[in-house]
Amino acid sequence: MKKLSVAQARLPESVDQEILLQGWIRTRRDSKGGFSFLELNDGSSLGNIQIVAPGTLPNYESDIKRLTAGCSVSVEGLVKASPGKGQATEVEARSVTVHGWADPDAFPIQKKGASFEFLRTVAHLRPRTNTFGAMARVRNCVCRSIHDFFQEEGFLYVHTPIITASDCEGAGAMFKVTTLNLRNPPLPEEGPDKPGWDVDFSKDFFQRPAYLTVSGQLEGETYACGLGKCYTFGPTFRAENSNTARHLAEFWMVEPEAAFFELIDNMDLAERFLKRIFRDVLARCPEDMEFFRERIDKTVIDTLEHVLESNFIRLPYTDAVEILKASGRQFEFPVEWGHDLQAEHERYLTEEHFKSPVILFDYPRAIKPFYMRLNDDGCTVRAMDVLVPKVGEIIGGSQREERLDVLEMRMKEQNLSPESYWWYLDLRRFGTVPHSGFGLGVERVLLFITGMANIRDVIPYPRTPGSAEF
Ligand code: 4AD
Ligand code: MG
Repeated sequence: MKKLSVAQARLPESVDQEILLQGWIRTRRDSKGGFSFLELNDGSSLGNIQIVAPGTLPNYESDIKRLTAGCSVSVEGLVKASPGKGQATEVEARSVTVHGWADPDAFPIQKKGASFEFLRTVAHLRPRTNTFGAMARVRNCVCRSIHDFFQEEGFLYVHTPIITASDCEGAGAMFKVTTLNLRNPPLPEEGPDKPGWDVDFSKDFFQRPAYLTVSGQLEGETYACGLGKCYTFGPTFRAENSNTARHLAEFWMVEPEAAFFELIDNMDLAERFLKRIFRDVLARCPEDMEFFRERIDKTVIDTLEHVLESNFIRLPYTDAVEILKASGRQFEFPVEWGHDLQAEHERYLTEEHFKSPVILFDYPRAIKPFYMRLNDDGCTVRAMDVLVPKVGEIIGGSQREERLDVLEMRMKEQNLSPESYWWYLDLRRFGTVPHSGFGLGVERVLLFITGMANIRDVIPYPRTPGSAEF
């Protein structure tokens, strides 16, 4: 007997096959005619398959009539064309074997319409809901597209380290990695001899301060400046205390980096890349996307289709400030050249003014990291942020500063010591090249695709301030 997934068994071509299905019961309905309808789901698709369990089965009274949401079963039976609406097939059961019961008084997620806040408290069981099943499949589709896109474009997949000594974004929002006894740390005998060495890190595992990476970019650059085009894709960590619906302390970022690449090439790559992801999700996850459209946000499919047909707006930061100032809007944070744009400003540009994704570029040097290439005007850098409606920034990137003296000057300006970035500066000492790259936050792009409101609901186990239960 062939085991099929529920997704396979739902296809018309499965009719007349004797099959095995294994999954979890969503609902049971008993018919007056002495048989029961079971809705079975195994995660292979949003839709369930209907099992018709005849009353003649030997365990009908003892098992089948006790089935409730969450019970796990194996079903052997025959696939038939279904007379029911909205389903091509159903399965007439020859046997139903129960693997595990789920006490309906105790099983937390059987009620329809449980709030997302509540489901976060049972994050280990929420994969059994429609929303989190759909999310897991769309997330998988996005990750597959990420690899397909870069592989087809000739980018090499590089694994950059998760434990690192350097703060790529220079923002100091890093988690420390240590094996020191925090109750009794070794202290330097004559006070800290190096900045940040408040304890004697020579006694620590790495014999120096070490952190969880905020970005794989710096190491990515070392591979691009030797192998041409590469990308890294992994978890990144930020210890900033931002309790918003768009920030996680642990999130996944894909970061392409390419040598002989200028900002304009970087923008073209980012736009092609995002469109590829959107196109693949619409083509490969139609049922899940229809679910998000129906239940979460009526506009998601139209928005993606519209983005696929349009060109992203490309706008210098300075022009954006002009537009915002001329808007006549009362923003909570006033707009002023030299200040970072706030979510409300980004949303005004993408949702109201342009109604389209916007690539902002050439930001003031003071608000962007040290590694971005300084423009000839001396006051802006070759930064680019891709902003989208509702979510705001989903990509941040730049052309990199390839001139050694300018880079050293920028590091000092931001109170970073060039000595501790000696290996990064070596790229500028030996065969330096213009190069560029960016980082896409996977959870931010999932917010945009699905219309979900909170970033805690697009990653299996969200890490946020005060929250790492599971
Ligand atoms: O703009 P960011 O900080 O850029 C970098 O880290 C660069 N080193 C990337 C590069 O050029 N290789 O972060 C890039 C993206 C953001 O646009 C956003 O989508 C996401 O990462 N991101 C976050 N996502 C969730 N939670 C957070 N706390 C995030 N911080 C950044
Ligand atoms: Mg950014």
